[in-house]
Amino acid sequence: MKQIKVLKGTKDILPQDVETWQFVEDCANKVFSSFGAKEIRTPIIEATELFARGVGNTTDIVNKEMYTFEKSDRSITLRPENTAGVVRSYIENGMSRLSAPVKLWYHGPMFRYERPQAGRQRQFHQVGVEMFGIDKPTADAEVILMAENFLKSVGLTDLSVEINSLGCPKCRLEYKEKLKNVIRPYLDKLCDDCQERFEKNPLRLLDCKVESCQAIYAKPEIQEVINSDFLCDDCKKHYVELKDYLNKLGIKYSENKLLVRGLDYYTRTVFEIKSNNLGAQNAVCGGGRYDGLVEQLGGEHTPAVGFAMGMERLISLLPERKQTISDGFIVSNDMTEAFKLAQELRSQGFNIEMDLANKKFTKQLEKASKSAKYALILGEDEISQNKVSVKNLETSQQQTVDRHECSKYLK
Ligand code: HAM
Repeated sequence: MKQIKVLKGTKDILPQDVETWQFVEDCANKVFSSFGAKEIRTPIIEATELFARGVGNTTDIVNKEMYTFEKSDRSITLRPENTAGVVRSYIENGMSRLSAPVKLWYHGPMFRYERPQAGRQRQFHQVGVEMFGIDKPTADAEVILMAENFLKSVGLTDLSVEINSLGCPKCRLEYKEKLKNVIRPYLDKLCDDCQERFEKNPLRLLDCKVESCQAIYAKPEIQEVINSDFLCDDCKKHYVELKDYLNKLGIKYSENKLLVRGLDYYTRTVFEIKSNNLGAQNAVCGGGRYDGLVEQLGGEHTPAVGFAMGMERLISLLPERKQTISDGFIVSNDMTEAFKLAQELRSQGFNIEMDLANKKFTKQLEKASKSAKYALILGEDEISQNKVSVKNLETSQQQTVDRHECSKYLK
């Protein structure tokens, strides 16, 4: 019969890798909790409209990457990201009544129908933070600090933080018009994607990776607009203050005027954290401020800022972890006694395995030496005297001890 294989762009996370995932999730819990953030778990399926309205109709995500299906006349989508879902939950559960800032963190699978390549999957995982209720740049600075502390806690330091300000819808509109005017004469020379983005989302033009487009955007008159200072006074103040906080916090960053991000909801601050060791898909973390999104999804006006990190990308940068082995492996031909001792020790918090196939003693010992720190030998003599022979599988030293004292040796 034909073998069924895992779907393209998806991966099994195998037992030998799960410990690293658990380590990263534990670090996230510890670090984000240390900032007073609470974990939130929202559904993987949401109404398609949430993403159309939330992430934006002009984005690649909504236009071509969503897994959408109909069920009982409803259009449902597997979440391509989690900011929109967390905002929906924030509104639906009246979290605006809580005292600000409301800090939420999450981790879990996301789905985007993208062309799979190194660092890009169709089912991938994100760990992220969303903070609601503070419009000051202190919130942006703290969110970036949360990302940094977390990355440090998992052991990653060789990363660079890039920031930019996209301004508010008002000052950005003028900038978009200027950009379109200066690019318009080259419109027919741009790639198909850029031609489409020209009207829908001109800021994304700057993101294009096609060389001929990049050559056009490098022209002096276009660069002049890109490098012009288009921010209104309030947006400028916000950005200057944020940089000031980052400097004082000792967070190294560089400014990147071309950083625009691929989702529509951002206002003012956007940032990315990149690794030099990841190839083309080098963004480990992406985030920014989205002051209009809560209102856009039917809530009261609520400023917000957050980020999400790709867990696969992050984990690919970590050294391989040694798998932990069990504390003890019971070697015995008396299954009933072996079960009893295993349960006694498990109830005291030890990880205990035993032979279930009723193999010969020597085979059991062989298995023990591969999977545990100690072999706990229960032969006929030990059982009749209520003792256990404890063998250290690293040093091969062996001692026979009273059964109730066995746990002392495992510690
Ligand atoms: P994003 O930039 O679309 O932002 O995704 C954040 C991170 O998820 C990326 O930097 C990358 O590490 C990872 N990622 C994205 N797509 C894939 C993929 N196909 N395969 C593997 N990893 C991927 C967001 O999703 C926003 N919701 C972030 C945010 C939260 N902004 C404010 N709050």
